[in-house]
Amino acid sequence: MPRILSGIKPTGAPHLGNYFAMMRPAIAWQDKGEAFYFLADYHALTTVRDPAALREFSHEMAVDFLACGLDPGRAVLWRQSDVPEVCELTWLLSCLTPMPMLENCHAYKDHLANEKVPSHGLFAYPVLMAADILLYDSQVVPVGRDQKQHVEVTRDLAGRMNHAYGAELLVVPEASILPEVETVPGLDGRKMSKSYQNTIGVFEEEKALRKKIMGITTDSTPVEAPKIPEGSSIVSLFKLVASPAEVATMEADFRAGGFGYGDFKKRLFEATWSFFAPMREKRAELLQNRDFVKDVLARGAERARAIARPTLQRVRMAMGLSA
Ligand code: TRP
Repeated sequence: MPRILSGIKPTGAPHLGNYFAMMRPAIAWQDKGEAFYFLADYHALTTVRDPAALREFSHEMAVDFLACGLDPGRAVLWRQSDVPEVCELTWLLSCLTPMPMLENCHAYKDHLANEKVPSHGLFAYPVLMAADILLYDSQVVPVGRDQKQHVEVTRDLAGRMNHAYGAELLVVPEASILPEVETVPGLDGRKMSKSYQNTIGVFEEEKALRKKIMGITTDSTPVEAPKIPEGSSIVSLFKLVASPAEVATMEADFRAGGFGYGDFKKRLFEATWSFFAPMREKRAELLQNRDFVKDVLARGAERARAIARPTLQRVRMAMGLSA
């Protein structure tokens, strides 16, 4: 049974990009191995400055993960900060992390490109992420394409540790990226991302969801004219939520002409709304049951910690720290 691990930053409500690139694959993995998932609240601190909001985001992300099918009987779900051992491992890894490797990471470079002053936390973000992965001897890390570089940093750091302190010290993990959902387009056609403010939330209210989908950017091809399904964000999103037969019909209708983008957007709305209907129901129940969710996270933290402690101890010993 492989050990699978992934994390999601609780910085707000999850969007379709989070769901299809991270949450759904992570949930599918719970049948194929020992699944470990956490709410990366230490990472969220690089952007969230409101303590009440951070606490609430963490709770809601747990609710949403459970609503989407995470089974706490099989998978372990916890809040990152409930296992502070990860911060100590971050320091230990830092001492073997070349600065240029971090200077080369996208998130940091983007920050500089936007002429913002990065915090040390933002700079060191990939080292904390490596610690998340290595602390649990993870083998498989299901993530979206944007996190691939961070998993490579993790592999590099594990290699450096093993080279310096013993070949078997840390498990070198593999990223798992699903090719068909590499990029979920957002409302403006760019990758769906909170930083572009082009997201469609998984659990939006009906009216808001409709309004967002009707607002997807399209070109100005007139209703009568044939349209090109390839590269259309409407079609790409529809593929995620509709049946293959519905997708085939939409593609044929694009090519035939006589259908406007408004019509296709309505179909996309209907398919999205019904795709998430069972999860919405489950979520409504969970929102009424705060204690249950708290309890899941508490038990998750206990199970996670039972693995984290011996790993950290092993690394401390190998590096010459106190027993
Ligand atoms: N950095 C990831 C993101 O922004 C979240 C994350 C933190 C993570 N630690 C992780 C993902 C460890 C996988 C494994 O999406």
